[in-house]
Amino acid sequence: MKKEKSSNQIKKRAYLIFAVFLLALTLFFITYEVLLTNKEKRKNDYLQNSSENTEDSQYVINEEDGITYIDGTIIVNKSYSLPSSYVPENIVIINNYVKIVDYVKEAFEKLAADALSLGLNIYPSSGYRSYADQEKIYNNYIMQDGIEKADTYSARAGYSEHQTGLVIDVNTVDMTFDNTPESNWLKNNCYRYGFIIRYPEGKEDITGYMYEPWHIRYVGPSLAKTLYNNGNWLTIEEYYQITSKYK
Ligand code: DAL
Ligand code: ZN
Repeated sequence: MKKEKSSNQIKKRAYLIFAVFLLALTLFFITYEVLLTNKEKRKNDYLQNSSENTEDSQYVINEEDGITYIDGTIIVNKSYSLPSSYVPENIVIINNYVKIVDYVKEAFEKLAADALSLGLNIYPSSGYRSYADQEKIYNNYIMQDGIEKADTYSARAGYSEHQTGLVIDVNTVDMTFDNTPESNWLKNNCYRYGFIIRYPEGKEDITGYMYEPWHIRYVGPSLAKTLYNNGNWLTIEEYYQITSKYK
């Protein structure tokens, strides 16, 4: 009788231990699953955020009110646009009808005066263009050449550097300007006045645009000298390790 009781107790205890063991095992698997799902979620969130925000650039890319800056330089290309409402401050007129930011006018006038002293005539043909101006220009080019071709030489509205007021297209604004004494001088001297050749020859896949010897962009003398790179022009995209591609 005593023996039977104790063997029943042993059985009961064994069941209890087994039940506790099963419960612990279940809890362990539930916790493991929750942690794993959580970790996956955090990993996916991280991957998503990093592909949205960083581009692999070592520079800090700042966005303020929809405008992108790196190191204080405003960035506009096929990857970085401007709000349609963006209008730069202090726009002035140069050459009767070309609009440009005041300090860019000053820099350009020095450049043009020095060129003229060497017998070279460099004059502004196009400067600041509003979102609406660019929309008209781009739509005309689409009708003329189709989207694919137009995208190689004209920016979509909101994606044109001309909207910054920091850009001047000089002289004839076509390839007849290339290899003229004016173009050759500009290519080798514009950096001294703070301008860069924004779309250099051979960098079409990097900038997203064909070579434009007439399109100069003001970035200030220090960055301009770096990008001049002793005559082997670097692009803003290469220097800041960013892309220029429509989404
Ligand atoms: N031609 C340059 C890319 C522009 O349209 O802004
Ligand atoms: Zn231009």
